[in-house]
Amino acid sequence: MSVVEPRAFSSKGGGTVTIRSAVEADAEQILRNLEDILPEPYNVTAPGEIAPSFEEEHAWIAAHREEPGRLAIVAEVDGRVVGLLDFQRGPRRRLHHRGAFGMSVTSPFRRRGIGDALVTTLLDWARAEPGIVKVCLAVYADNEAARRLYEKHGFVVEGRRLREIRLDDGTYADDVLMCRFVDP
Ligand SMILES: CC(C)(COP(=O)(O)OP(=O)(O)OC[C@H]1O[C@@H](n2cnc3c(N)ncnc32)[C@H](O)[C@@H]1OP(=O)(O)O)[C@@H](O)C(=O)NCCC(=O)NCCS
Repeated sequence: MSVVEPRAFSSKGGGTVTIRSAVEADAEQILRNLEDILPEPYNVTAPGEIAPSFEEEHAWIAAHREEPGRLAIVAEVDGRVVGLLDFQRGPRRRLHHRGAFGMSVTSPFRRRGIGDALVTTLLDWARAEPGIVKVCLAVYADNEAARRLYEKHGFVVEGRRLREIRLDDGTYADDVLMCRFVDP
């Protein structure tokens, strides 16, 4: 069971953002945000490629709350879900000390510190979670906003994958692998 109790952060420019575990009631807003975010650059999923049903989204949220080693947290502003981060530990004993995450904040709510709040909450949770040593991610090499966010939180580049992503127009993009150790 992986649950983060609601935690309030001040948002840049005023107001508050609450970071908390995702619950089934968030499914509709998460799916709506996905529709907005998929047409943007820096996704590995193409628009229209996946269309989870309401039930599938419910099950995804429940799995992240109930299965050990998984976590899904949302950012909520004025009752609206505006950001999502999901993390999963390695499935095998020899990979269980590390896990990877992905995240997004919906575009009207960017540059207010919500990304910071999501990553801070993930790292605090990971530090308190027995056996997690390494937090990892993959990011498009030219995704400056995300790379700066991760560097700000102590992530370092551990590798670059050449032509890892093939875009719909036939061009390629590299991604970089980043990590941060959280053991004491
Ligand atoms: C990357 C993303 C999650 C950042 O979220 P955010 O809420 O806008 O980030 P914050 O406002 O908390 O910014 C935190 C830090 O990130 C960096 N940052 C965020 N946006 C940036 C931008 N447009 N340009 C440069 N740096 C940026 C800065 O270091 C910033 O710290 P600062 O405000 O002290 O300068 C958001 O832009 C997003 O969802 N992008 C699309 C999806 C995506 O790229 N996800 C990552 C996939 S690996």
